[in-house]
Amino acid sequence: MPKVTINTKHLLSVADLAPGELKGLIDRARSMKASTNTEKPLQGKTVALLFEKPSLRTRVSFEVAITNLGGNSLYLSPQEVGVGGREAVSDVAQVLSRYVDCIVYRCFEHKNLEELAQYATVPVVNALSEDEHPCQTLADLTTMLEHRGSLDRTVLAYIGDGNNVARSLAYGAASMGMTFRIASPPGYELTTPVLRQAAQIAAANGGQIEFLRDPVAAVEDAHVVYTDVWASMGHEGESGERKEAFIGYQVNPELMEQAAPDAIFMHDLPAHYGEEVPEGFLEHPQSVVFDQAENRLHAQQALLEALIG
Ligand code: CP
Ligand code: NVA
Repeated sequence: MPKVTINTKHLLSVADLAPGELKGLIDRARSMKASTNTEKPLQGKTVALLFEKPSLRTRVSFEVAITNLGGNSLYLSPQEVGVGGREAVSDVAQVLSRYVDCIVYRCFEHKNLEELAQYATVPVVNALSEDEHPCQTLADLTTMLEHRGSLDRTVLAYIGDGNNVARSLAYGAASMGMTFRIASPPGYELTTPVLRQAAQIAAANGGQIEFLRDPVAAVEDAHVVYTDVWASMGHEGESGERKEAFIGYQVNPELMEQAAPDAIFMHDLPAHYGEEVPEGFLEHPQSVVFDQAENRLHAQQALLEALIG
């Protein structure tokens, strides 16, 4: 599987990728994972990792991916740059573009990401914003394909908050012609415009978007059961009210039993034990969460190669 060509300069949303491009990146990630190839397409390139929030997976997998491809990475912590505070987003974008070949940006407000991309002359990658987490979806779809052999007729049941991870997954699953079912409590649904856009992508690619309230009904016959934290970064102060609202939305052994017998369990991590999953659930025999975490590395190698390789 050779290097993938993509038409978008930046990756801010999963919807920036045409279905063929998304599938190409997934296939390329899988072939990079399987190979011992020592090509260095990022030789002489520097990638800035500009983070406003903490991270384990995203930071480490990007740094290792960049090193593996022969490039240099530069981590800029939340305290250092002060995007939009110490310095205007547009100025940060123009200055960084004079030094580096790509900016990987984790932020609170999606509009800052859009502004950074607008003013940067180099590609900008969304490393998680309030709206989306496209690199996570790339790894998630790679993991589903790896474990199922095909994404065709795959039913993905997402239980919980209609957040950044859910939105990117909805677009990605729709683009791959899958059925994406989401069960969320009142007040925490994906928004109507997002559901509508996902449904349009699904309709064009043979997929389906379904919204339900009942987690048990959502996982029925599902091949993939997916969950994420109830309170995302930036919403920690709502943790108490969210714990109340999400009662009944925990993914646990009893809920897994209602899914297809060979269903896999996925979580982008970090997990909050006692909330969306019980203690020890990541070690459940149907859990593939650590393969999923590993695949961040391979998926991002495929992405960086396509964007700047
Ligand atoms: N899943 C994920 O993005 O993890 P981090 O927040 O640790 O990067
Ligand atoms: N929805 C979570 C994902 C963390 C990787 C958050 O935004 O905090």
